[in-house]
Amino acid sequence: MVKLIFIRLPDGKKYEIHAKSGQSVMEAAIAGRIPRIIGECGGACACGTCHVYIEKAAQKNLPAASAMEEDILAFIDKAKPTSRLACQINVTENMQELTLYLP
Ligand code: FES
Repeated sequence: MVKLIFIRLPDGKKYEIHAKSGQSVMEAAIAGRIPRIIGECGGACACGTCHVYIEKAAQKNLPAASAMEEDILAFIDKAKPTSRLACQINVTENMQELTLYLP
């Protein structure tokens, strides 16, 4: 199990859940009832309702965003250089823990 820490912006409210290897971060967030993660397209990289921010240092340990993910992020109002789609990040045993920020 991998610890996922979600921090809601701007108030900083923190949510911690444990995710199984093989789940996407979006799936784990939905199961853990994390607010603001909707996952409307079910993880098909088509809706952007799983938008999160992940600090650049933490992103170095993750696979880079695909061109398709970048295309969706380009249409999200609050997108920043640290934006990712939680449905495109799979939980792996190699992760110690991951901190994500909820726009
Ligand atoms: S759940 Fe739709 S883009 Fe992530």
